[in-house]
Amino acid sequence: MAKVAIVTGGGQGIGEGIVRQLAKDGFTVGVADLNEDNAKKVAESVGNGSKGYFVDVSKKQNLIDLVSQVTSDLGDLDVMINNAGIAKIGQITETSEADLSQILDVNIKGAFFGIQAAADQMKKQGHGGKIVNACSIAGHEGFELLGAYSATKFAVRGLTQVAAKELAKDKITVNAYCPGIVLTPMWDQIDAEMAKIYDVPVGASLQRTLIQLL
Ligand SMILES: NC(=O)c1ccc[n+]([C@@H]2O[C@H](COP(=O)([O-])OP(=O)(O)OC[C@H]3O[C@@H](n4cnc5c(N)ncnc54)[C@H](O)[C@@H]3O)[C@@H](O)[C@H]2O)c1
Repeated sequence: MAKVAIVTGGGQGIGEGIVRQLAKDGFTVGVADLNEDNAKKVAESVGNGSKGYFVDVSKKQNLIDLVSQVTSDLGDLDVMINNAGIAKIGQITETSEADLSQILDVNIKGAFFGIQAAADQMKKQGHGGKIVNACSIAGHEGFELLGAYSATKFAVRGLTQVAAKELAKDKITVNAYCPGIVLTPMWDQIDAEMAKIYDVPVGASLQRTLIQLL
């Protein structure tokens, strides 16, 4: 029987890329996203019995329900990719309480709840599993205008290390990927907002950041 994976934020960008690779590797994928239409389109296009689902990862019950629905539809959960995330651009002194709360809810609580829901299911199944979280280069170094985002990614790195230590006895591995720049809709948004703040043309902030990273 095909192995089963869930990818949150699988409707576009890096998550969609992960779904496509997992499907090529023979997985049946539960593609989950706030944008259910995108999730369904991606799932249909990769085949393998993959299905699209709505999820808001900032809500714990949504993740519990997602894992329960996917395992009922597709079978035991082997891999959980907590990929969904958002960016907020702006100086720390200019960041609103609402923006800070939203990014903490999606990026930190989303990964935390995803680990909890997947680990509960994998422990019940009794044959281990793999949990993978989206961190970032911003989880290793702070970059100007990415204060809130960077805080969330440092947090994801920390909770990934703790979860890996706590879940090893259940044969559940927990890891994270830390990309630099990946040209997804998230980077279009980052570049457009930096263009406004720095009063530079669209594309200039991306070039500047690429040069900084080289
Ligand atoms: N693009 C990059 O350069 C880059 C670099 C490092 C890390 N990352 C991380 O990789 C992950 C994916 O980034 P991306 O560039 O593909 O972003 P993206 O904005 O292109 O796609 C993110 C997806 O997550 C979904 N999403 C947003 N909030 C959600 C929520 N509350 N519940 C469920 N789904 C939600 C969106 O609908 C979207 O489909 C993020 O965690 C991001 O922080 C991206």
